Amino acid sequence: MAAVSIEILPDAKALAERGADLFAFAAQEAAAARGTFTVALSGGHTPRPLYTLLARQQFAQKIPWRRVHLYWGDERCVPPDDEASNYGMAYEAFIRHVPIPPENVRRMRGEDEPEEAARAYERLLSQPPALAASSKADLPVIDFVVLGIGPDGHTASLFPHSPALAEEERLVVVNEGQGTGKRLTVTYPVLNAARRVVFVVSGAAKAGMVAEVIEGLRAIEAIPAQAVAPVHGTVTWLLDEAAGSELSKAATPGT
Ligand code: 6PG
Repeated sequence: MAAVSIEILPDAKALAERGADLFAFAAQEAAAARGTFTVALSGGHTPRPLYTLLARQQFAQKIPWRRVHLYWGDERCVPPDDEASNYGMAYEAFIRHVPIPPENVRRMRGEDEPEEAARAYERLLSQPPALAASSKADLPVIDFVVLGIGPDGHTASLFPHSPALAEEERLVVVNEGQGTGKRLTVTYPVLNAARRVVFVVSGAAKAGMVAEVIEGLRAIEAIPAQAVAPVHGTVTWLLDEAAGSELSKAATPGT
């Protein structure tokens, strides 16, 4: 069962700083232990301030960029230069500003035919460094997975009552939510093989859903984020006070 920790930060700025801190620490730890640091990035608006900090000297200088390998947890089926692209957002926020080797950046090809793009990304995730060369299992083990949650309880592009929730074999599928358009998303087998999942959630609008995901009755079909529980990994919730405001005192000791 995944070990879960919850950190409440005063505001969105402190949330981004804490997230960048965790990223830098995990990068150093993974690079020292295994020579690589594999990351799956989330899209959406929330992680952008965190990503922007990664390019700031105070963090960039601590990160062994040549050993960092970027993947994505999901992507919209749009070209990389589309304003909706998760890759495009991360590229502008930090990738173009840091010395990461281009071959270490493995984006989902949102511009391709979706099913072909999903199959191609499964092949990428089934190779080193996502799939450890020594691995006996056939699941990629991502060191650091950044996730957000939507107001409807989705995470990555695992939307409520969507077909992808039941997927136990495929690593990447085409999925769709209410009005989201086609998406590419990793499935629970990938998320739940991760070493570390970090949910980054900000704002009062998400407070009710954060409390539902962490403390509510399990209702995975309706609240997909509840099913993220890495078998051998940890889950860290990074919340600002607004997003954590509906959690019980029991869930947030010391705050
Ligand atoms: C995406 C994300 C998605 C996101 C949530 C929260 O592609 O949009 O992967 O799962 O994390 O929708 O989005 P916001 O951070 O914009 O609220």
